[in-house]
Amino acid sequence: MNAETGKTALITGASSGIGQELAKLFAKDGYNLVLVARSDDKLDRLGEVFKNNYGTEQVTVIGKDLSSEDAAQDVYNQVKAKGITVDVLVNDAGVGLYGLFATDTDWEREKAMIHLNVLTLTQMTKLFLYDMLARNEGKILNLASLLSITPSPLMAVYAGTKAYVYNFTQSLANELKDTNVSITALLPNATDTDFFNKAGAENTKVTDEVQDPVMVAKAGYDALMAGKSKIVPGGLKNKSYEVMAYVAPQEALASLMRNKMEQKPDPKAEEESSTIAWGIGIGIAVLAGVALGLAYANTNALDRARYRYKAKSFGDSISDTLSSVFDNVVDSVVDAYKTTKAKAGAVINESEEELEEEVVA
Ligand SMILES: NC(=O)c1ccc[n+]([C@@H]2O[C@H](COP(=O)([O-])OP(=O)(O)OC[C@H]3O[C@@H](n4cnc5c(N)ncnc54)[C@H](OP(=O)(O)O)[C@@H]3O)[C@@H](O)[C@H]2O)c1
Repeated sequence: MNAETGKTALITGASSGIGQELAKLFAKDGYNLVLVARSDDKLDRLGEVFKNNYGTEQVTVIGKDLSSEDAAQDVYNQVKAKGITVDVLVNDAGVGLYGLFATDTDWEREKAMIHLNVLTLTQMTKLFLYDMLARNEGKILNLASLLSITPSPLMAVYAGTKAYVYNFTQSLANELKDTNVSITALLPNATDTDFFNKAGAENTKVTDEVQDPVMVAKAGYDALMAGKSKIVPGGLKNKSYEVMAYVAPQEALASLMRNKMEQKPDPKAEEESSTIAWGIGIGIAVLAGVALGLAYANTNALDRARYRYKAKSFGDSISDTLSSVFDNVVDSVVDAYKTTKAKAGAVINESEEELEEEVVA
């Protein structure tokens, strides 16, 4: 016998990622489901899977673009018209958008994101919370983020929407504390879903550290059931991020997040830049060689040896590879110097080894 047979959970964003994993947990626990997202075909298939695998009795699918005007009111009206009582509301649907705010990102997408992440979530909460309070029973889970508590350059508007969700949820948690209705904010770190691809952030460094959506959903589900006001999934590591976010200066957090949100180095570009570095290195070596050659031609034997020694040290300090290039250049310069002297009828008495020994001593 399932634990919660007869109760209904409404989950927005159930067609993929964290929302889909949350829907699975409710289905396993015997909840009837109202699944909301734009991809109603995916939601229909999911409903069939839940009926077959977990014996879910009722699955209602609402295909809706939740970034459209009055989307929340329309979903609420549809639920009411079907005579469904929503015992648990999960506001999961959300999108991000990557890029520099001033020059890269598109206002229409930002406006739709604010509508979905903020306006619809707020109105859904208002409509269903009112009914929950009238029954003095119910639970709400809102998808915030660890970005709710840190600035996030390159995802500035998204981070702003999630800061709103977290703050709003904590305020309501206080307003509801003497009731039998609870509200919980889920603050995941970067999670392995389609989120970053859709946001245009698929190649950022932060995607190297993503966590499992199954774990995130389970942590959120458990916290919701326990009536906690917030949960940061992912153990000590993410807990320490949270603590750091509360104590570190905002400027430092913004720099840290900027670094994480930067694009990963492109391997092709790296190859090109190393070729350019080689070119620059060789150019420097040639110029230094010419300068040494000129000095070499106008000084005595001891100083000549010093120049050669310094040239070698300089080469070593650039890098081992560059150093060997440099030595070759110096050797060429020495050869050129000898040829020039020979043409001018001058005699060089010291061997190069002798000169080197003299300098080192
Ligand atoms: N992944 C992360 O790193 C991460 C971290 C912290 C918080 N979060 C939050 O977790 C939530 C779920 O994200 P996810 O990672 O699971 O991403 P996801 O796999 O892309 O899922 C997003 C869900 O939202 C729905 N959705 C998007 N736009 C919609 C719209 N206009 N109308 C209706 N539904 C819409 C999508 O369904 P359709 O496309 O079918 O409409 C999908 O079901 C979001 O609120 C996100 O901000 C994610």
